[in-house]
Amino acid sequence: MSDNHAVPTAGPTTEPPPGPSRRTFIAATGTATGVAALAAGKPVFGAPPEKAAAGGHESRVTLLVNGKRHSLTVDNRTSLLDLLRERLELTGSKKGCDAGACGACTVLVDGRRVTACLTLAIRLEGAEVTTIEGLADGDRLHPLQQAFIDQDAFQCGFCTPGQILSGVGCIREGHAGSPEEIREWMGGNLCRCGCYVKIVRAVAQTAKGR
Ligand code: FES
Ligand code: FES
Repeated sequence: MSDNHAVPTAGPTTEPPPGPSRRTFIAATGTATGVAALAAGKPVFGAPPEKAAAGGHESRVTLLVNGKRHSLTVDNRTSLLDLLRERLELTGSKKGCDAGACGACTVLVDGRRVTACLTLAIRLEGAEVTTIEGLADGDRLHPLQQAFIDQDAFQCGFCTPGQILSGVGCIREGHAGSPEEIREWMGGNLCRCGCYVKIVRAVAQTAKGR
């Protein structure tokens, strides 16, 4: 991640701006509506999917999303991002590039950050998925959501859900010990509004408060 306000070369293009206020936006992304910071480590894929009875192009997959169990028949090519947005109506995870280059779709799978646009849904049998909608505890925002507000760490907000999920993963991995480290380990999360300095501050604030 850059330490200045230079606009990165790739980013989201199609989503409309978020709600009426920053607090409302953060809260909304936590209740109603994800960058390509693929975490270092093992793949997150689960057990092989069970083929749907109807034919070879669809499979049945059961996964836990934000604590709620979902059992769905999906086209084998369906990405986790499309499953979340189109089947479960969890639109907090954003589709920026749909190619693993921007990080707007970052979610946690079994606690590890992944780019949902590059993750096949049918490989997630039994997995636990956390999206921005599942971070808050009722009306109480996740500390990193609050830190984004405190640090004024977003403008249009399109990249924000992915930044926050990636930040949560970055902190959990123990990669938030310094601004330099945060920039390094969140380097896959682009923000075309150039909020990098404040995003790093928000992650650092949260890491310090743990
Ligand atoms: Fe850009 Fe997934 S949408 S990395
Ligand atoms: Fe607008 Fe990051 S892309 S706040």
